[in-house]
Amino acid sequence: MSEPIIFDTDPGVDDAQAIAIALRHPDIELLGMTTTFGNVDIETATHNALLLSELAGHRVPVAQGAAAPMVKPRHPAPAHIHGANGLGDIELPAVTGQAESCSAAQFIVDTVNARPGEVTLVAVGPLGNLAAALQLDPSITERVKRVVVMGGSIKEGGNVTPVAEANIFNDPHAAQRVLTAGWPLTLVGLDVTHRCVLTPSHMRRIAAGQGPLGEVLAGSYAFYREFYQNALGIDGCCPHDSLALAWLVRPELFTTASGHLNVATEGPAEGQTLFAPHQRAFISPRWSQTPLADVGLGVDGAAVVEWITDTLA
Ligand code: BDR
Ligand code: CA
Repeated sequence: MSEPIIFDTDPGVDDAQAIAIALRHPDIELLGMTTTFGNVDIETATHNALLLSELAGHRVPVAQGAAAPMVKPRHPAPAHIHGANGLGDIELPAVTGQAESCSAAQFIVDTVNARPGEVTLVAVGPLGNLAAALQLDPSITERVKRVVVMGGSIKEGGNVTPVAEANIFNDPHAAQRVLTAGWPLTLVGLDVTHRCVLTPSHMRRIAAGQGPLGEVLAGSYAFYREFYQNALGIDGCCPHDSLALAWLVRPELFTTASGHLNVATEGPAEGQTLFAPHQRAFISPRWSQTPLADVGLGVDGAAVVEWITDTLA
């Protein structure tokens, strides 16, 4: 049975890989994409989401969302990682389609309410759109099937600060709301995404299978690969955002734990995700008062990378 999802994204090289999977996988019904600032500014994010769906020959609604964090000022986009255009600064074809007239938050609320209990929100950027949807209609927590977030880090440490992962750090106030809203939620963070390396030979198979979309995936990957070579000394890239979809379709490849999440919204730990395992007593109940959520702590990285490659090859 195929899973109806909304994909909330800031494309972004690894977002583009995940978008390709969401558009192609037979077990996923992509109802639409909602865009956020993050890897790029909001206009570029929307442009890239439209472009990728056109290149795949599978147009889906795209609704534009958050241009900045809820509280703190926006950090400059990481052009050295994703390119100034979000897709490795390769030359891109023109886009013909347009975004929906409604906001991302409204699109989420309307889509969830139209199919109660069916729609999964897969969020792979800063979480302002989901926070805004909760503000528009707090009762969607009862009608969403599940929320899967690529973000955070439990034991792995951070990628933009010693303790914070980029999506959470970019809007910690939104993340605090979304991760503690009490809807069924799975956090897929650096503890699992750093166990997966998409190598050049995987990317060659993907590019060969994806026509014009494959050219963009391969071209942007080449830029991203250079960043990973310099930063982590690996030959390939961590396909972070695809892991949220891998968890949705192949959960048996992951180990998860249940517990309570909190997000540090200021100070030196800003953007850190804190996880208090279910029924573990700490010095005070302070860290165990938020609703239960699941977090990914382990993964068969090689099998996930094979799944990504097989899906797109
Ligand atoms: C996350 O941050 C973004 O740069 C990536 O697209 C991914 O969503 C990884 O920390
Ligand atoms: Ca992303």
